[in-house]
Amino acid sequence: MNDTVSRKLEHIKLVVSSKVESSESTLLEYVRLIHNPLPEVNLGDVDLSVPFCGGGRLRAPLMITGMTGGHRDVAWINEKLAMIAEEFGIAMGVGSQRAAIEDPSVRESFSIARRAAPNVILVANLGAPQLAKGYSLREVREAIDMIGADAIAIHLNPGQEAFQDEGEPIYAGVLGRIIDIASRLDVPVIIKEVGTGLSREVISKLYSAGIKCFDVSGLGGTNWIKAEVLRSKIKHGAPLKPAGSLEDYWGTPTAIAIVEARIAAPKAYIIGSGGIRNGLDVVKAISLGADIAGIALPALRALVNGGFDSLRRLIESILYQVKVSVFLVGETRVWGLWRSPIVVTSRLREELEMRGVDVDYYIRSLRLQTLLWRMRGDGGY
Ligand SMILES: Cc1cc2nc3c(=O)[nH]c(=O)nc-3n(C[C@H](O)[C@H](O)[C@H](O)COP(=O)(O)O)c2cc1C
Repeated sequence: MNDTVSRKLEHIKLVVSSKVESSESTLLEYVRLIHNPLPEVNLGDVDLSVPFCGGGRLRAPLMITGMTGGHRDVAWINEKLAMIAEEFGIAMGVGSQRAAIEDPSVRESFSIARRAAPNVILVANLGAPQLAKGYSLREVREAIDMIGADAIAIHLNPGQEAFQDEGEPIYAGVLGRIIDIASRLDVPVIIKEVGTGLSREVISKLYSAGIKCFDVSGLGGTNWIKAEVLRSKIKHGAPLKPAGSLEDYWGTPTAIAIVEARIAAPKAYIIGSGGIRNGLDVVKAISLGADIAGIALPALRALVNGGFDSLRRLIESILYQVKVSVFLVGETRVWGLWRSPIVVTSRLREELEMRGVDVDYYIRSLRLQTLLWRMRGDGGY
């Protein structure tokens, strides 16, 4: 078994049973939607369907973001996640396909997702360091073809690479490689983080170079610095590269990352993820400017610890909570969340202001400008 393949299995075992979420929060607790006690619509009229970046439609604004594949013992996880995505009409990503590019015998652990979910919007996945180290268009196309993907996510994980025992923190030249490869692909490229958050500066560079989809994966949920340090500690008794407070506090909280993404890339498709744990988190992420929300760890934990029915209950309850929230602001469509008032307080407001965001102006302009673009048809609403 090569290193990449065995690491994939170790990661799953670790994250389902240990605390790998950061102590810092998403800051979504500082967002409040305004309850409408007289909604003037029926709950049954709420339609959660939304477009996905680059084409296709979801029945609800949720994605299970990339986690696994790369070992025969995890194939069942991708199969069940894909089945649930098919059942609820949500999007799904697979984990990094590097393992299957290096070792074709584990391809099945990824391709099983497409067989289990013929109609789902499926997102391929590779890491930016692989592009820096020489993956060309050929390997990227191989990952896409392996699962009949509708899009490919390229993940940025410099913090994880820096603290992983066998990490490869190789990022010089990555921006140019991403831009070059994205310009030659016929499916959209989604740039994602893995739990420490995309920033406005990075999104600006990528957006002006033509990238149109971003998954912010902010701080407040699964933290890969923490997970790698813990994995190293379990292996060696003490971590090879202790992270100190970085494992809890380094990164951009999800709420901030969403606002920064929308400011840097006004017309982009934005997936709000990192620490999304229930339907209220989903609607807060969307109210702040995301198109849909993404979850990873809760889906994996529900499936591995509780089985398929437990995963189904999780997704069903999150989507019901989203539906009720849309109803309780008096709307019947997801984009209605963008014209409903919100209140942003305390640390979230202060931190955004320190980053040069006029919070009240942002909220107003999101509600006017972005909504107008959507209603005119940009993005397929
Ligand atoms: C077990 C596990 C494996 C992951 N593997 C990948 C991966 O291979 N590629 C990737 O882009 N993100 C990966 N992620 C990151 C998730 O897609 C997501 O960005 C992050 O976990 C934050 O979301 P959460 O707080 O809902 O878990 C992984 C997450 C988990 C929990």
